[in-house]
Amino acid sequence: MKTKALSDYLAQGLTIKNRVVSPNIVLAPLAGLGHIAMRQLICEYGGFGLLFTGMCSAKAVPHESPNISQVFRWRKEELPYLVCQIFGSESDSMAKAAQRIEKEGFFGVDLNFGCSVAAICKKGSGAALLKNPKLSSKIVSRVRDAVDIPVFVKFRTGWKNDPGFAVDMARRFEDAGADALTFHPRVAPDRRSRPPRWDIIKHVQQAVNIPVFGNGNLFEPADGLKMFGQTHCQGLSIGRMAIARPWLFAQWSNGFTPGDTIFYDNAIRFTQILSDHFEDFFAVKFFKKYLPYFCANFKFGHQILKQLMLSNTMEEAKNNLDSIFQTDPETLSRPNQNLFA
Ligand SMILES: Cc1cc2nc3c(=O)[nH]c(=O)nc-3n(C[C@H](O)[C@H](O)[C@H](O)COP(=O)(O)O)c2cc1C
Repeated sequence: MKTKALSDYLAQGLTIKNRVVSPNIVLAPLAGLGHIAMRQLICEYGGFGLLFTGMCSAKAVPHESPNISQVFRWRKEELPYLVCQIFGSESDSMAKAAQRIEKEGFFGVDLNFGCSVAAICKKGSGAALLKNPKLSSKIVSRVRDAVDIPVFVKFRTGWKNDPGFAVDMARRFEDAGADALTFHPRVAPDRRSRPPRWDIIKHVQQAVNIPVFGNGNLFEPADGLKMFGQTHCQGLSIGRMAIARPWLFAQWSNGFTPGDTIFYDNAIRFTQILSDHFEDFFAVKFFKKYLPYFCANFKFGHQILKQLMLSNTMEEAKNNLDSIFQTDPETLSRPNQNLFA
């Protein structure tokens, strides 16, 4: 019998609140990386079902101007498959932010119950909410009542390595009206130091009737196949690897074959898109955030990173890319994770 290829799993798509998402692979929310320019770059290759914004402050969203904000900004064309992620700790402000997101025409709203960065947790947002299951339920149900668009919840294992807690939270989120879950099986203090426990994705998936996107350390097609096989999750959510290789979705879902010049072409195209969307100062800032992921593709990535980080303008960034690629740098089949851990 022919074994199922990853593209077969991805072609299955999935349904979220009566809306078909196909293929069932999405860009995870990534603050500072998943901005309008990176999403445009990814869109030019295609092959994904949805894109998520980086987290936006729920308090700011109702009066945010997309012309000024670097986070709450989008291209009109991406709205049908764009989900806006918000973080906050009050159900009312989360509901108001969700209403603005619905009014702007996004596919859905995603609620952040996973971020473990101290600045976010200190305010009682992100993963800190997992310490208060009652409030967590209240936030989801207030948002559910406030909008008709799909409501997503992204969460992690909790603060202790307790699969039972993750399962309870998953049920709570479903009962409160969430339409889909993204689950990252790590405990909160453990940023990305230990491998995620995919076995807990299976428990979460079995506990609910809504689709579950599995997330964490999906680097190559074999990882995707393994996650589907081991956990029976309905979809894949890809973070860092999609930044290192923005054509990943097209490659995994559509059989896109990257050519020899893909790394150079991709980086140069990205400098152009960044400059189309941001003033030079911010374009350089975002370019530098992207660099560790880009450089992870090369054998001597540390050296390339050092050289590119010296760029003070986008013009210098392009010139540095040109001079690096004149030496034909050796690429790696699997990116060096030490560069972007
Ligand atoms: C730089 C960076 C920014 C992130 N920002 C967010 C965010 O805004 N919201 C969120 O829910 N998760 C965020 N995450 C977590 C990712 O969505 C994802 O769960 C994590 O990177 C694991 O997936 P991966 O192994 O595919 O990268 C962030 C991760 C990184 C590395």
